[in-house]
Amino acid sequence: MKRLLILLILLMQAIALLAEDGYRLWLRYDPVSNPALLQRYRAQFSSILCPGSSPTAAAARTELRAGLEGLLAKKIPTGTTPNAGSVLAFSRASAPAINLSSFDYETLGDEGFIIRTVIEKGKQLTVITANTDVGVLYGVYHFLRLLQTQQNTTQLAIVSRPKIKLRILDHWDNLNRTVERGYAGLSIWNWHELPGYIDQRYIDYARANASVGINGSVLTNVNANALVLTPSYLLKVKALADLFRTYGIRVYLTVRFSAPIEIGGLKTADPLDESVKNWWRQKADEIYRLIPDFGGFLVKANSEGQPGPQTYGRSHADGANMLADAVAPHKGIVMWRAFVYDARVQKKEESFDSANHNTQNIASADRFKQAYTEFTPFDGAFRPNVLIQVKNGPIDFQPREPFSPLFSAMPRTPLMMEFQLTQEYLGQGTHLAFEAPLFKETLDADTYAKGKGSTVARIIDGSVNNHALTGMAGVANIGNERNWTNHPFAQANWYAFGRLAWDHDLTASQIADEWIRQTFSNDKEVVSTLGKMMLDSRETLVNYMTPLGLHHIMATGHHYGPGPWVSNLGRADWNPVYYHRADAYGIGFDRTNTGSDALAQYALEAAQAWKDSNSCDDKYLLWFHHVSWQHKMQSGRTLWEELGVKYQSGVDAVRGMQNQWNSLASLIDGERFRQVRDLLAIQEGEAEWWRNACLLYFQIQSKLPWPKAAEVPDHTLDYYQSLKFPFAPGIGGNN
Ligand code: GCU
Repeated sequence: MKRLLILLILLMQAIALLAEDGYRLWLRYDPVSNPALLQRYRAQFSSILCPGSSPTAAAARTELRAGLEGLLAKKIPTGTTPNAGSVLAFSRASAPAINLSSFDYETLGDEGFIIRTVIEKGKQLTVITANTDVGVLYGVYHFLRLLQTQQNTTQLAIVSRPKIKLRILDHWDNLNRTVERGYAGLSIWNWHELPGYIDQRYIDYARANASVGINGSVLTNVNANALVLTPSYLLKVKALADLFRTYGIRVYLTVRFSAPIEIGGLKTADPLDESVKNWWRQKADEIYRLIPDFGGFLVKANSEGQPGPQTYGRSHADGANMLADAVAPHKGIVMWRAFVYDARVQKKEESFDSANHNTQNIASADRFKQAYTEFTPFDGAFRPNVLIQVKNGPIDFQPREPFSPLFSAMPRTPLMMEFQLTQEYLGQGTHLAFEAPLFKETLDADTYAKGKGSTVARIIDGSVNNHALTGMAGVANIGNERNWTNHPFAQANWYAFGRLAWDHDLTASQIADEWIRQTFSNDKEVVSTLGKMMLDSRETLVNYMTPLGLHHIMATGHHYGPGPWVSNLGRADWNPVYYHRADAYGIGFDRTNTGSDALAQYALEAAQAWKDSNSCDDKYLLWFHHVSWQHKMQSGRTLWEELGVKYQSGVDAVRGMQNQWNSLASLIDGERFRQVRDLLAIQEGEAEWWRNACLLYFQIQSKLPWPKAAEVPDHTLDYYQSLKFPFAPGIGGNN
């Protein structure tokens, strides 16, 4: 019997190795591959008991049963009384008659859970419990994760609650189903078919989110279309909200500030105008009648051409507060974005003469400084239900940025983190770049806002400044590709975001480990090889794209590939030459007090680390300093030679990843093996492209011999400059 079982498992695993399209994400629940462990799990978990009656309790029951049946490769009965081997999943209100006196529900809040092995009347039980049904659901997913990652479960004693309240995916999805900066097909929201047709994908999306604790979804692009607020679209939104509610997910919408004019027939959208206030109040009432737990609004205002309160001479606070007042009676919130950099369309000469690399007026115009300049005067002026949503860095989701100085500058305002999961600047759909190290770098950075230990994580979880309203958003990388994210490894960025929003103390390596075990295999070789690949991948990408603190040197518009030479765009601060400032002397943006003095926006202790070009960490050097091509780096090499070393090491590391991946050929299913192998080949070619194009271009300024470490390019600069990609993905109109 036992032999037969093992044979069966081997057979199922062999089938799994053949076909794996990635649709199941990290919720695969394939049979436990270690026979001894499988026997132990089977003995310990033999039935389930989930007494709750709400849709959420039902979802938890369904998931628990499906998960266990898959993992244990056998039928799992649902019992009504606790037996030896029962897994009990229940909220406090629907607790069965067992002794719960040692369970401390008080510390769990609305979403936390306990998982514990208990002995009740001589029987060993596993208890998953929480104050709420959604807490139970989170506990069930956590429990299944333990089995999927083959943990020791003999004496479970887990207590977990999220450190951040709002854990939200921001979809930059347009109503025409294009996805701004999306590289995984079309939007998963099929607006045309909603609300009539409910795709199974919506449910699986909700399951995946709940499994990592994501509890909010902004359905629409920040470059918003007012139509989503019209009655027929609100019915579609309601259909999704009704579905997601079961999984603890609230829906939010983006607001186009001019909506009262566009769909309301008003003459103005001035936030202080009574008719405008009224219009938004009524709109909010209408939404909440349909969706009583609607989350609220996300707003991009007076940024990159979007309308906003400044259009009417009003402030960000006026705009945000007006919307906040409209949703406050319904307990809604407003997430007001700080991604602004001077709403006026500047003329190039106004701030920066790119031809002469004249930096005279840059002190006031440095885009780095503008969000801080615009927002800090309003600290404390926002309603209590407003969060200011700040991108992790001061510019725009670059492969590496210092943390945004806003995090330490608005103590009286809840600040929410915005990360970008979709890889707009990180190789888009084809590069393997695990982002947890990037997220952690920002979260763990010390702002010194209130002395040592005031990390960005502790600012946004509310502990430094005592805020109860806290949030973390991730710009989604999901589309209607069968495997959701196009690159199989991009799934890990969705996963990592959820896990870190729940617990920012997790390490990147723990998250990678968990994800690999659930998504690929528990095989030691697979876990260690993929773990290394993933953990190094972001630094590798930084090296072949933007080493030593270079930033925003991507091609125009679609941001696909290198474009360090671009200098002809309408705004100075859209041009790569604005950011790297390469000239005959050297390269980099002087943000010290001899330049734009952006460093002054940080607490002294934080700025200290970056202030001096001789001690500044190489990783940030060109973010803060304009240094000579001969500048002596920490390695002892000149800057020019170091650039060569970095670009080449990035290319070499991609080749290393290819070897690592190929070494796993027999341990990975064919479908994903081939896909990743081919994507890595694209990545290698593109890494070489970045190295060649950037070094050739910078060589014009440095006038130095080709760096010793770098391979000689196979094309001239003209060739790289002539490349055009009019249909590169990620751009789609919304208005
Ligand atoms: C980036 C991105 C835009 C996006 C903007 C934003 O600039 O390229 O597509 O709209 O960020 O975050 O608002």
